[in-house]
Amino acid sequence: MAAAKAVPTSVPVLVTGASSGIGEEFARRFAERGHAVTIVARRAERLEQLAEDLRSRYGATVDVLVADLETARGRNSVAKLLRERSPWVLVNNAGYGTRGRLADLDASRERAEVQLNVVSTHDLSLAVLPGLLRAGAGGIINVASTAAFQSLPYMATYAATKAFILHFTEALAEELRGSGARAMALCPGPVRTEFSEVAGVQDYMELARPMSMSAAKCVSTALRAFDRGTAVCVPGPLNSAATLGPRLAPRVVVRKVTGQIFRPRSG
Ligand SMILES: NC(=O)c1ccc[n+]([C@@H]2O[C@H](COP(=O)([O-])OP(=O)(O)OC[C@H]3O[C@@H](n4cnc5c(N)ncnc54)[C@H](OP(=O)(O)O)[C@@H]3O)[C@@H](O)[C@H]2O)c1
Repeated sequence: MAAAKAVPTSVPVLVTGASSGIGEEFARRFAERGHAVTIVARRAERLEQLAEDLRSRYGATVDVLVADLETARGRNSVAKLLRERSPWVLVNNAGYGTRGRLADLDASRERAEVQLNVVSTHDLSLAVLPGLLRAGAGGIINVASTAAFQSLPYMATYAATKAFILHFTEALAEELRGSGARAMALCPGPVRTEFSEVAGVQDYMELARPMSMSAAKCVSTALRAFDRGTAVCVPGPLNSAATLGPRLAPRVVVRKVTGQIFRPRSG
C-alpha cells in the first residue's frame, strides 16, 4: 500500500479548543499550509483575535464558532456543521484535567470533564466519519495524552478520559486503513500551555521539565506523523520512553508511583 501523504489543502480543518495552547497551534499550522480553518472554543474574543491574525498573516479563510462542548447544545452545533460538508480534518483537542482526591473534587466539574474530553470527542468523530468514508479523504486527530497509558490516582477522571480517547482512536485508525481517510491519537507529555494552571499541576510540570515542550514543537511533530498516516503519536523521545514503563511494570507498582507523583502536596 502506498505511504500516506499530507491531506490536500482543499480539505477544510475544524479545531476544537483553538483559543489557546495546542489547539491554537494546530489552527496556525493548518492555516499556514493553506487550509480553510474553523476554530471552536468558548472564549469568543480570543477566537476573533486568532482569526484576524490568521487572515492577515496567511491569507487564510477562517470561521469562528463559539461553543461550549460540555453541553449537548454546543456539541450539536459543531456536529451539524461537520455534517453539512465533507470531508474534513477534525482536530478534537478541547479538554482539561482536574486534580485531587476524587471524593473531594466537585462532582459536577468531574462530569463536565467527561462530557468534554470523552463525549465531545466521540460525538464529533461520529459526525464527521460518514463524510470521510464517502470522500475517501480527510481525517481525525484526537488529542489524548501520555496520561492515557496508565491510571493516575488523584487525576483519576482525566487519565480515564484520555485512555478512552487513545483506545477509541487507535481502533478507528485500524478500521480506516485503506479507505483514504485516517485517524490519529496524539498523546503529548507535558506541554507548556494554560493546561497546567487549569488542572493545578504546576508542580508536576516543574518535575517533568526535561520532558516538556512548546505547543509549536508538539504540533509540528504531530503533523509530520499525521502526514505519514501514523495511528498513535507520542511527541518526544523521553515521552515515548515513558509510555513503555507502565506497559512493562506490574500495575500495582505503576499506580503506586503515579499516585506518589500526583498526590496533592497540601493534602
Ligand atoms: N498541556 C499539556 O501538558 C497536555 C498534555 C497532554 C495532553 N494535553 C491535552 O491537550 C489538549 C489541549 O490542551 P492545552 O494544553 O492546549 O490546554 P489549554 O491551553 O488550557 O487549552 C484548552 C482548550 O480547550 C478549550 N476548552 C476548554 N473547555 C471547553 C469547553 N467546555 N468547550 C469548548 N472548548 C473548551 C479552551 O478554550 P475556552 O476556555 O476558550 O473554551 C482551550 O482552547 C487537551 O485535551 C489536553 O488534555 C495537554
